[in-house]
Amino acid sequence: MHAVPIPSIESGTGRLNIANGAAVLHGFALDDASALLEAVEAVRVAAPFRHLVTPGGHTMSVAMTNCGSLGWVSDRKGYRYAPLDPESGKPWPALPRIFETLAERAAAELGFSGYRPECCLINHYLPGTRLSLHQDRDEKDGVAPIVSVSLGLPATFLWGGFERSDKTTRIPLSHGDVVVWGGPSRMRFHGVAPVRDGEHPATGRCRINLTFRKVM
Ligand code: SIN
Ligand code: FE2
Repeated sequence: MHAVPIPSIESGTGRLNIANGAAVLHGFALDDASALLEAVEAVRVAAPFRHLVTPGGHTMSVAMTNCGSLGWVSDRKGYRYAPLDPESGKPWPALPRIFETLAERAAAELGFSGYRPECCLINHYLPGTRLSLHQDRDEKDGVAPIVSVSLGLPATFLWGGFERSDKTTRIPLSHGDVVVWGGPSRMRFHGVAPVRDGEHPATGRCRINLTFRKVM
C-alpha cells in the first residue's frame, strides 16, 4: 500500500481515501442492498437483535446480532467472540454467501486480497442511538480490515486517530456506502453520531450496519 494524500477523492471512482489503508467506497453495496437486507431478516429470525450490556454495566443503545462462525458479545464479564449465541445456546447463523462476496470485494478494492472474515456483527440503530468512540481490538488479527456496510437511514461516521482524545473527522454515510479500514489504520478510533430521525424506503425508521471482522 502506498501513501495517499488524505483525505482525497479519486474522481470517478466514488472512493474517498481517509487514511492509509482506509477509504469510503460510496455506493459500493447499492446493487446488493435489497438482497443484503433480506439476508439480515433471515439472520434476525434465528438470532434476534438484542441490547448488550458492557463490562461497566451500561446497556448499549444500539441493538446487535451476529452471523458467521464467531459472534461479538459483551456482558459483565467482558467483550469477546463466541461461537454460540448466548441467548439460544446455538451457533450463530452462517455468513450468507452474498455477505462473504461483498466483504471480499470491498477489501480487495484497498488491496487486502483473500479477505475471509469469521464474523459479521449486525448493528441496528433507531433514531437517536449512537456508538461511542472505540477501537475494534478484540480480534487477534490486527491488520486485516474491518469492512463496514451502511444500510437505511444516513449517519455521521466519526473517524479518529490512535488516541481517544485525537480530533475526529465527521464523514457522512448513506445507504449502500462501505467503509474499509485495515493495515496501518486498523486500530483507529471510530464511532457513530446519534442517528437523525427519518424514514428510509429500504429499512423504514432505522439504520442497519454490517461490520465484517477477521477475528483469528
Ligand atoms: C462499528 O464500529 O462497529 C460500527 C460502525 C457503524 O455502525 O458504522
Ligand atoms: Fe467498531
